Amino acid sequence: MGYKILCFGLFCILFAYYIYIPMPENIEERWKIQFLDAGVKMLSFMGKMFEIMGLMKYEDVLSILVKVQLTKPVSDENITVIDTDFSDIPVRLYLPKRKSEKQRPAVIFIHGGAFTLGSCKMLPYDYLNRWTANKLDAVVVGIDYRLAPQYPFPAALEDCVLVIKYFLQDTILKKYGVDPTRICISGDSCGGTLATTAIQLLQNNPEHKDKIKAQALLYPGLQFIDTLMPSHRINEHGPFLSREIAIKLAYLYVTEDTALVQAMQRNEHMPKGSRHLFKFVNWSDFLPEKYKKNYVYTEPTLGKLNVFYPALLDSRLSPLLVNDSQLQSLPLTYILTCEHDILRDDGLIYSTRLRNVGVQVTHDHIEDGIHGAILLITVPCNLHLAVRIRDKYISWLEKNL
Ligand SMILES: *[C@@H]1O[C@H](CO)[C@@H](O)[C@H](O)[C@H]1NC(C)=O
Ligand SMILES: *[C@@H]1O[C@H](CO)[C@@H](O)[C@H](O)[C@H]1NC(C)=O
Ligand SMILES: *[C@@H]1O[C@H](CO)[C@@H](O)[C@H](O)[C@H]1NC(C)=O
Repeated sequence: MGYKILCFGLFCILFAYYIYIPMPENIEERWKIQFLDAGVKMLSFMGKMFEIMGLMKYEDVLSILVKVQLTKPVSDENITVIDTDFSDIPVRLYLPKRKSEKQRPAVIFIHGGAFTLGSCKMLPYDYLNRWTANKLDAVVVGIDYRLAPQYPFPAALEDCVLVIKYFLQDTILKKYGVDPTRICISGDSCGGTLATTAIQLLQNNPEHKDKIKAQALLYPGLQFIDTLMPSHRINEHGPFLSREIAIKLAYLYVTEDTALVQAMQRNEHMPKGSRHLFKFVNWSDFLPEKYKKNYVYTEPTLGKLNVFYPALLDSRLSPLLVNDSQLQSLPLTYILTCEHDILRDDGLIYSTRLRNVGVQVTHDHIEDGIHGAILLITVPCNLHLAVRIRDKYISWLEKNL
């Protein structure tokens, strides 16, 4: 009994502590966000404690948030929903029921979760993909790629590429009544990373390239090499995705060796001889002035880590590392960035770099936006912000796909 009271007391103190972490000024539905954010930070704290005590791994504690939101494939009056697999990778398909004379557009959606969490079967993704299928009269494919740390880099990417290649086959497009000139690949957060990289890889193959009309990236993460951009500093404590949580989860895609996580927290993880890569992500060159605030660019500290991880130099992990000639022929692009997001600058830099080489980019910046907001689109944790992001994304697709 005494033990339970002690736990409950500790819980209350922690919650009170987290709920008083100051929020940015312009946030809508402030109390709801403050409450949800305190919940996430508590869970992260529990994750750290459980890991120290050897009870559960950090990422397994956070994945509780995913497990409670998994859904079954439930069809409704408009959409048939099917769980199946493409090239042995699990996918969830959304097929409009209404009769159509014409072939339909298609969207392949890659979910977020820092490469370690998440599923296309989570309620908010199921909702968004169903909504997309219904609004656009489109075939939508959600991909359940393999997750880290059990399946490290480049497993997630390989799965996404396999599914995309499978779907783009003429016989498969025909089977689902898809117009091969109206296909978009979308993703949020690390799903945006995977979409970006998959398209960069597939553009070298004329058979696939011509079938990818557009890419839509919602607050994507696009690099692992600089963890101290202005957005990382301004949004160090979140809301939702703090710098600590992001690094603690995402590094697992590279390794389980905690030396890397510590080095990434200090931004001293890149090896000697990698300075030339920083020009591709140099925020001092690519961020529009208003986002730089008073931050001053500092040269990276290299060669502090004794172990060498080739993935850190790989553009399949950090798609911002490709050179301009590889960006030139990328498809029509939609990028949505949020002001209160540590990954804000990744999206802003990609948007600048794509525009510099003549790629057609629509960029929406949400001034009161928060990383991961699309996960908060279903009751009881629903935000107006999530609806606004959904509507911007969908209306871009309606106009451009
Ligand atoms: C089916 O589509 C109609 C028209 O778009 C919409 O009003 C209705 O809510 C949809 N039903 C479901 C279950 O989503
Ligand atoms: C980043 O850009 C700034 C300003 O253009 C420049 O002074 C600096 O040398 C660049 N750093 C790297 C590592 O490319
Ligand atoms: C860009 O990168 C590609 C692939 O790594 C390489 O073949 C090409 O020579 C590079 N182009 C320039 C201008 O550096």
